[in-house]
Amino acid sequence: MSETSPKLRAELEGIPTYKPGKPAAADGPVAYKLSSNENPYPPLPGVMETVTAAACSFNRYPDMACAALTAELAERFGVPASHVATGTGSVGVAQQLIQATSGPGDEVVYAWRSFEAYPIITQISGATSVQVPLTPGDVHDLDAMADAITDRTRLIFVCNPNNPTGTVVRRAELERFLDRVPSDVLVVFDEAYREFIRDPEVPDGVTLYRERPNVCVLRTFSKAYGLAGLRVGFAIAHEPVAAALRKTAVPFGVSQLAQEAAIASLRAEDELLGRVGSLVCERVRVVDALRAQGWTVPETQANFVWLRLGERTTDFAGACEQAGVVVRPFAGEGVRVTIGEAEANDIFLKAAEAFRREM
Ligand SMILES: Cc1ncc(COP(=O)(O)O)c(C=O)c1O
Repeated sequence: MSETSPKLRAELEGIPTYKPGKPAAADGPVAYKLSSNENPYPPLPGVMETVTAAACSFNRYPDMACAALTAELAERFGVPASHVATGTGSVGVAQQLIQATSGPGDEVVYAWRSFEAYPIITQISGATSVQVPLTPGDVHDLDAMADAITDRTRLIFVCNPNNPTGTVVRRAELERFLDRVPSDVLVVFDEAYREFIRDPEVPDGVTLYRERPNVCVLRTFSKAYGLAGLRVGFAIAHEPVAAALRKTAVPFGVSQLAQEAAIASLRAEDELLGRVGSLVCERVRVVDALRAQGWTVPETQANFVWLRLGERTTDFAGACEQAGVVVRPFAGEGVRVTIGEAEANDIFLKAAEAFRREM
């Protein structure tokens, strides 16, 4: 037998691995997971009942077209059903968008640091990442991003609010930016945290999509709607982008449980958005407390805060863990901390205060 291994695509070499948020230790004192921007609330009883009922038929394949969910989303956003494309979380849909637009020789532009899946899914497609540094204030530098467009650019991600900094870009600067993007380049607004935005100057990407055929909006049920474990997200895009998403979808990728839970969540939106409101209040409390402790915290519109700790990042994350909360360190850069239950936020604030005193 020959000793050579199967030939794999060269593009996979050196691909960064996605680092999921570390789980809370099962045997620790009190341990809260503030490392994955999850929703701390348990599933709503009504959503749970729907999912339990759907579980009775998981011997069957799901509806491949996600027809009922698509119809519900189309109605909710006032868009044609043919402009809605669902997928296995919004990261799944983001990957389909790259597959549909970009291959070897093509460029995908995005801010950096931003959502860590972007470099991975770009490299898998064989396309080239063009990373445009955030401004010193940790905000997308839209002028520099527009300057980075070449005739090889196929797709641009605008993560609004940006993961992991929580910062936003506002209407006037976005319009100016979009005016500079050629109409054959797809601009993807990744709005995974849209429901947490309270700044009235941040436009809903769907309004931008309505005016511009090259704009696509990504949304998810994982954050505000609390369905991270069920894997369902969607895009709103014009043809032919939406059609391309249907072509690139993994057949039967979105489970029936996920489809039904998403529909039930849309119908329970008032209650779910009430929970988001409480998390936003917690966000304000945490940011105010951190600033009172002397930290510099960028203005966040998401369900997390960013502390640019540089060389102290890993030590800070260790101190938080010791105290009972797991956060998300980006070594040498900073720490992202999800807004969780009030008790978890209190533990985090105490750990931050103690760390600050020793700095
Ligand atoms: C900016 C951003 N986009 C997309 C996602 C992916 O979410 P999901 O695949 O769960 O919909 C995340 C998850 O953390 C995110 O932070």
